[in-house]
Amino acid sequence: MINVGIIGFGTVGTGTASILLNNRDILRERTGIDINLRRIADLDIKRDRGIKLPKGILTAKTEELLDDPDIHIVVELIGGTTVAKDVILKAISKGKHVVTANKALLATHGAEIFRAAGKQKVELGFEASVAGGIPIVKVIREGLVANRIRAVYGIINGTTNYILTKMTEEKAEFSEVLKEAQKLGYAEADPTYDIEGIDSAHKLAILASLSYGPRFSIKDVYREGISWISPMDIEFARELGYKLKLLAIAKESDGKVELRVHPTMVPEEYLISKVDGVYNAVYVEGDAVGSTLYYGRGAGDMPTGSAVVSDIADIARNIVTNSVGRISLDPSRKGKSLMKMDDVQSMYYFRFSAIDKPGVLSKISGILGKYNISIVSVIQKGRHEGKAVPLVVLTHRAKEKNVLAALKEINRLSIVAGKSVFIRVEGKEGDR
Ligand code: HSE
Repeated sequence: MINVGIIGFGTVGTGTASILLNNRDILRERTGIDINLRRIADLDIKRDRGIKLPKGILTAKTEELLDDPDIHIVVELIGGTTVAKDVILKAISKGKHVVTANKALLATHGAEIFRAAGKQKVELGFEASVAGGIPIVKVIREGLVANRIRAVYGIINGTTNYILTKMTEEKAEFSEVLKEAQKLGYAEADPTYDIEGIDSAHKLAILASLSYGPRFSIKDVYREGISWISPMDIEFARELGYKLKLLAIAKESDGKVELRVHPTMVPEEYLISKVDGVYNAVYVEGDAVGSTLYYGRGAGDMPTGSAVVSDIADIARNIVTNSVGRISLDPSRKGKSLMKMDDVQSMYYFRFSAIDKPGVLSKISGILGKYNISIVSVIQKGRHEGKAVPLVVLTHRAKEKNVLAALKEINRLSIVAGKSVFIRVEGKEGDR
C-alpha cells in the first residue's frame, strides 16, 4: 500500500481527495497498487467541502503529515511561493516524494526545488501545474521524448480565454465581461494574475524548461495582458480572418528560445482558434512527429485533481518497481539560451488613429519602409475628412526592435491622434 498525504484542502485538494477515494478501485486495477489517502492537512478543518472523508484523516497540523514515517507521497496544494515552498522542501528533506500543482512556485524557485529533490532521490510530480487536466507534462517528457521541440504554444489560462471569447461573441468591453466572469467564478476577485498574463507566463516557463532546458523562470518570459484589448481590434481581426487569443509561446528560432505571452491574432482556420470559453489547448511541434494538439479543461477541482492523481499513480509505480528517478529532473542540464524580445520576429497588426486626409498613408508607410517593415494589407474604416479614423495595417514578418522604433516615430506624427495599437500575429507567412 502507498500512503498519500494532502496539504491544502481547497478546490484542487477536494477534487484530488474525492478522486483518490472514489476511484481507489480503478487505480488499484490499473496499477496493481493500493493507493491510500491517509491524511489531509488544512488550517480550516471545519468547512464542509461536500465530500465524506474517512474518520480522523483531517488535521490542522502539517507536521502530523510530514512527520508520519508511513506517508510516502506528500501532495502540496496550498499555492503561493512561501509556505508552499517550505512545506515542499521539508517533505523532500524527510525523503518523501512530492506532487504539486503550484506553477508560481516552480516558475520562480523551480531550480532550487528540483535540485533538492534530485539530491534526496525523491520524485517531484507537477503535471497539474500546467493546463490542469491536459497531461501536457507527460506528453513533452515521455510521449514526445524523441523529438527536438520546434514550438510549444497554447491557450493555458481559462479565465482570459473565457473573457476574450465573450468579448468576441458579444462585441463587449473588457471591463463588462470581467465583471460577469467574476460573478460566475471564472475570475478571481483580484484578477491580476490571470488578466495580466502572469499565470500563463508561470506555466510557459515550466513548458519551456521541459522542452528546451535549462530551467527557465518567470523572469525570462516577455508578458502582456489583455486588459487593454478593445472589441474594435477583435472585430478588425475577424474581418482579416483572425481570432484574438492570449497565447503563451515558446519557440526555437536561430538556435535560441523565444518566450512570450501576449494577445495574439491567430488564423481563424487554425484549430487553436476554435478553443473557446474556459478551455485550454496546447500545440506542440516536434521535428519527428510534426504538429500535435492537446485540448481540455485547464482548471477546476476534478480536471486538476485528475492530473495530481496521475502523478501519484506514476510515483507509486516507481516506488514499487524500484525505479524512482526514472525521469531526470536535473535542473543544471545545458539547454538553449533565451532570445531577447528585441530580436523576436513576428507579423504585426497595427491600428493607427490617423487624420483622414491625403498623404497620411504614405507618411506612415514611409516610416514602416524605413524600418524594413513590409505591408500585407491596409483597411481604413469610415470617411471623416480632417477627423481621426482607424487605419489598420497588417505586416509581413518584422523584427520587434524595428516595430517599436517605427511606432515611436509614427506616434510623433501630427497626423496621428493618440497612441497606436499593435498586436502580434501568428501563423506561417503565406498561409493566407
Ligand atoms: N485561473 C487559472 C485558469 C486557473 O483559468 O487557467 C488555473 O491555473
